[in-house]
Amino acid sequence: MKTIIEPFRIKSVEPIRMTSRAEREEYLKRAHWNLFSLSARDVIIDLLTDSGTGAMSSEQWAAIMRGDESYAGSPSYYRFETAVREIYGIEHVIPTHQGRAAEHLLFQIYGGEGRVIPNNTHFDTTRANAEKSGATALDFPCAESLDTESDFPFKGNMDLEALRACLDSNGEAVPLVMVTMTNNAGGGQPVSLSNLKAVRKLCDQYEVPLFIDACRFAENAYLIKLSEAGQEGRELKDIALEIFSMADGCTMSAKKDGMVNIGGFIAVRDPDLARELRERLVVTEGFSTYGGMAGRDLDAVAQGLHEVLREDYQEYRHASITYVVDRLHQRGIPVVIPAGGHAVFIDAKRFYPKIPWSKFPGQALAIELYLEGGIRSCEIGSLMLGGTDEESGAAIPAARELVRLAIPRRTYTQSHMDYVVEVIESVWKGRDLIGGVEIVQAPRVLRHFTGQFRRLPNSRAPQAAHALPH
Ligand code: F0G
Repeated sequence: MKTIIEPFRIKSVEPIRMTSRAEREEYLKRAHWNLFSLSARDVIIDLLTDSGTGAMSSEQWAAIMRGDESYAGSPSYYRFETAVREIYGIEHVIPTHQGRAAEHLLFQIYGGEGRVIPNNTHFDTTRANAEKSGATALDFPCAESLDTESDFPFKGNMDLEALRACLDSNGEAVPLVMVTMTNNAGGGQPVSLSNLKAVRKLCDQYEVPLFIDACRFAENAYLIKLSEAGQEGRELKDIALEIFSMADGCTMSAKKDGMVNIGGFIAVRDPDLARELRERLVVTEGFSTYGGMAGRDLDAVAQGLHEVLREDYQEYRHASITYVVDRLHQRGIPVVIPAGGHAVFIDAKRFYPKIPWSKFPGQALAIELYLEGGIRSCEIGSLMLGGTDEESGAAIPAARELVRLAIPRRTYTQSHMDYVVEVIESVWKGRDLIGGVEIVQAPRVLRHFTGQFRRLPNSRAPQAAHALPH
């Protein structure tokens, strides 16, 4: 059969509250044109993130009931530890309440003044934890990742020459190398096994440990199976095991490929490192057999990690994202190709070529998607990643102006995706009438979360401009 169906039936449903365009204009105006400030009740399709927003299976809900809340030595912890050991092949498993807590622990040990942390691309919390420790976080994405039109299948790869140069020039200041799989900030694009092997070789040569940011490891494994030569016949669990066989440890947000609403862990091979991490864990997260998690949540992760590696699930997951990307691409709407693992990325620079980066085309597009169809997405461009030069006060752009529509796992159906395509298409048709966005007030760091904005009229469409609420 050609149709790839959702490999599940729906047992429990949540109503979606429909809203009118006039209502949405009012909600967003009250939110100062910041989608993070909206009440989720006022959103029709919420694609702000795929993190912690997925649906759990009936087996996971059953596991929740099995959860044991003993403070120390809970059987839930042992089931969790067994699942992580089996799937990642890493011995020491330390639970944390989510991914950034694992990063915090890691950089308490590996970070510090004068240290340099290379990554294909740090996710923003990874960068924040490295920098908060005093270290410098450097990104070395491969050259293809910057070209949103290149169909290179492994745009998440590390730039190996840049990594080698970094290891050469920084010597012992590099305490570890990190690889983020998939590369979220780079478009949810995967890293190939051969690139990871080459990174491992460099790590061996320079005697530096390799850590994987493993949030979306199963999606990455599926994309390896799909596109890397020689990998097509393999089982996902074998590809995953090979990925982790190259690492000294990993940090994990179980809110993504753990298929749960909250949870995470750090796993390491070195027993001394594990001891040190556990000593720190107990101060900020909790005792070593629960970290920051409830026993029931540990059980849900143990089950989720097995489900995420099911072939039928990954096939459907990838098909549902490709479905949207292909339809937009066919209509000439600028999307990042090929489809990444967890999200659809629209290239706002090409969507609104006349809006300069300083007027935040990505934020303008995210606003339009909400007004048009109640879709909540997220700007990943100069608003989120740009900034202000400390000395000159000049605004700094980001490398790309993207809007991310992150697809929660097992949550929306194909008709929801048809609706998303229709809304985007309608916004595309009206693209010549849209002006940019300006900041009214915003904090210096992480301004996209709490900033207040104003919509700017489009100077080339004055008759439409006064119709814009701003
Ligand atoms: N690493 C990556 C690659 C991530 O995408 C995230 C979270 C984290 C680490 C941190 O994990 O949220 O459990 O603390 N990404 C979410 C997102 C927030 O929307 O992409 P966390």
